[in-house]
Amino acid sequence: MKLISKSSEGLHGEIKIPGDKSISHRALICASISDGTSKISNLQESEDVINTLNSLKQLGIRIYKKNESYFVEGKGFKGLKESENQLYFGNSGTGTRLMSGLLSIQNFSSSLTGDDSLSQRPMKRIIEPLVKMGVNISGSKEDTLPLRITPSEKINGIHYEMPIASAQVKSAILFASLGATGDTKIIEKTKSRDHTERMFEFFGANIRYSDKETILKNTDKFTPQNVEIPGDFSSSAFFIVAALISKNSDITLREVGMNPSRIALLNKLIEMGGDIQVFNNSSFGKEPIADVNVKSSSLKSCEVTSDDVANLIDELPILFVASSFAEGISSFNEIEELKHKESDRLKAMQDGLDKMKVKNFLNGNVFCIEGMGKNYKSPNFLAETYYDHRIAMSFAIAGLNSTSSIEIASPESINTSFPEFIDLGNRLGCNFEVS
Ligand code: S3P
Repeated sequence: MKLISKSSEGLHGEIKIPGDKSISHRALICASISDGTSKISNLQESEDVINTLNSLKQLGIRIYKKNESYFVEGKGFKGLKESENQLYFGNSGTGTRLMSGLLSIQNFSSSLTGDDSLSQRPMKRIIEPLVKMGVNISGSKEDTLPLRITPSEKINGIHYEMPIASAQVKSAILFASLGATGDTKIIEKTKSRDHTERMFEFFGANIRYSDKETILKNTDKFTPQNVEIPGDFSSSAFFIVAALISKNSDITLREVGMNPSRIALLNKLIEMGGDIQVFNNSSFGKEPIADVNVKSSSLKSCEVTSDDVANLIDELPILFVASSFAEGISSFNEIEELKHKESDRLKAMQDGLDKMKVKNFLNGNVFCIEGMGKNYKSPNFLAETYYDHRIAMSFAIAGLNSTSSIEIASPESINTSFPEFIDLGNRLGCNFEVS
């Protein structure tokens, strides 16, 4: 497959963004361990989420689709059945790390694998706290996949101060805590996304959470629910930036997730001078949603501080693109975690920005981008994407402001989180050509 993103005359129209990836994983897992049948609407049908869904089926959970919704017949916290084969999580750190927590409390052994990218990602970050809880879990010599989990005699709740801001690590601990003796308390210096906490609360857990700490106490069952998944803010981010940097644009995105631990990008873009209106505020379960209108804008540079990073970690690649078409030098502090995502995103973005002829450099641990302003046109080039969906979509959006086009290498990676990206983009006025 070949994807060429050609310059565009502007974006117009209104779309509904497919369901959030993080929330889709959590909805499927929580439904599978509740006591009865849950209904999930607007589930993200991406490769990442479908791999989690298939793993749950392999573990004995009946899941089926009827009239656009998914039905999950939950079997309780410890009702999963041993899988004959290894569980395969493809490209998904979320699927792997959350399911590791849950598999830790089952009375059978499991083995978890993934694709080449996932197989290189660090698992020590979950192994360490889970072992402290009494879980028998180990990885390769380098603490990477495959992960092997065998039954433990006793698992204890944990008081854990998070060494890094990671919702996946926090969630692995919370899922394991459902089968533990005693309370769990997790302390965060910087708050990571809180979808697990909200989903646990929605399914009836005894959980309290704030910006600083999460406390989970004696919860022995989840009550099945009807879950409606908000539109994925991280998917929306690509079209929000697309409309801001393209001339003559005016788009509206409906029912977008507005969880405060996810939307730092929105506030950053507004500070940069982005014409963005958020309206029709409402909620799906415990998750806030709203509609978002975005118009072409003249952007100024931004400063991302270390406190901002966790809240816009997945949006940094597209924010780098927005900064390339802004006036002035943008700076990004302490973005080390970018190196541990689906690819080394800092390197991947530096490569592409160099090809866009946008000056960028590292000053200690501060990454800087010299914006070229709104009239800049990127030269044509082939963007290497290292099979990373967010790198591919970021350069596809940059192509809208090119002298004629940017070609995207291995665009299939986009299916890991946003299979509808090309069709929805073209519906809004992008010029994506697939051959
Ligand atoms: C996610 C957490 C983040 C994020 C990822 C999804 C989640 O990862 O980058 O795309 O759903 O919990 P970390 O927990 O590794 O920061």
